[in-house]
Amino acid sequence: MGERPYTLLSCSMSIDGYLDSATDERLLLSNEADFDRVDGVRAGCDAILVGAETVRRDNPRLMVRAESRRDDRAARGLRPSPVKVTVTAKGQLDAGAKFFTTGDVEKLVYCASDTVDTVRERLDGVATVVDGGQPVDLAWMTEDLYARGICRLMVEGGGSIHTQFLTAHLVDELHLVVAPFFVGDSRARRFVSDGEFPWHPGRRATLAEVRQIGDVVLLRYALSERFGTDQVGTDQVGTDQVGTDRPGTVR
Ligand SMILES: NC(=O)c1ccc[n+]([C@@H]2O[C@H](COP(=O)([O-])OP(=O)(O)OC[C@H]3O[C@@H](n4cnc5c(N)ncnc54)[C@H](OP(=O)(O)O)[C@@H]3O)[C@@H](O)[C@H]2O)c1
Repeated sequence: MGERPYTLLSCSMSIDGYLDSATDERLLLSNEADFDRVDGVRAGCDAILVGAETVRRDNPRLMVRAESRRDDRAARGLRPSPVKVTVTAKGQLDAGAKFFTTGDVEKLVYCASDTVDTVRERLDGVATVVDGGQPVDLAWMTEDLYARGICRLMVEGGGSIHTQFLTAHLVDELHLVVAPFFVGDSRARRFVSDGEFPWHPGRRATLAEVRQIGDVVLLRYALSERFGTDQVGTDQVGTDQVGTDRPGTVR
């Protein structure tokens, strides 16, 4: 196996483990202080990855919001925000989505082989479309990202992506935020779906930190021996106001 980026999976969920509601109405899981913490973690990464369903459903911008953090990145010779990455098989992505239209940063789309030509045509000029196999091989994709200079990757959902990254043991660190309410509707998307996870009753993960952030709690788990060798971005909390234009799970 080739080298892959240090990978941090970040998500917020309800007490009963849901990422979202079952309706089209947006579900606000985190609070402003926690969105700001996430912004700091983003600023410390080279790329942010979400699944195509999250791009379609949430229409996130996936940008670093705090000006001080963007300036700090620029001072380090980086783009103000990390590279954006998504994965698709069907390729039904709208070139007008905020993922593509916001930020002067590279956008990478890892696409299944059988739709790659159509998707290249559809996203011509707005993204680099990479043939990722059939379906996209996520382990290979992480190695390809590393080869493109992505040393620190932040995975921000949704459930399908979480499940595949975690079951394939591609995550070094997990940031799990628990919001103080229940969703109680099994039609909604859960944090993960069924799978064979490397951590089970016989092999417990290491709980590295518990932090109260207002009315939510952050649980930080070490999921690989690489945890702790790369601390960038885990504690960065700036003073800039976080935008409130689009309340949602991923912004
Ligand atoms: N609470 C949070 O922190 C948080 C964060 C992010 C998202 N969410 C929520 O999560 C929900 C979306 O989660 P989800 O599980 O339905 O979708 P998802 O994980 O965002 O995306 C799944 C899609 O990604 C593509 N994909 C995934 N693995 C692939 C592979 N190996 N090869 C090719 N394509 C692949 C497929 O796209 P195609 O369908 O295009 O083929 C698939 O349908 C939304 O409700 C969103 O609001 C919550």
